[in-house]
Amino acid sequence: MFWLRLLAVLTLAGAVPPLAWAAPNGTVVVAQGVVQGEIFAVSDTCTHRGGPLSEGELEGTTVTCPWHGAEFDVRTGGVLGPPAATGVKSYPVRVTGKDIAIEI
Ligand code: FES
Repeated sequence: MFWLRLLAVLTLAGAVPPLAWAAPNGTVVVAQGVVQGEIFAVSDTCTHRGGPLSEGELEGTTVTCPWHGAEFDVRTGGVLGPPAATGVKSYPVRVTGKDIAIEI
């Protein structure tokens, strides 16, 4: 286990849409929660058929897969709605100074 630096906090603040972002390795989406300052990281790959969650809609703490509409809780990775049967992996997030890192 180690901490992987993903991006600068300022990069996330300027992202469009502001609440979702795909990491360069294509495996993680980071979202800022409904409460300012909350940042979460989950796998970018939908457990149904591999849709890119970072390209889905984010409403509050729920991300919807753009391919078939499965819903996941970005706080836990848990599945909230079909057709996905299982959740996505979630990662601990650490904000240090200007950097956001996840533990992998
Ligand atoms: S690939 Fe995500 S719902 Fe089908």
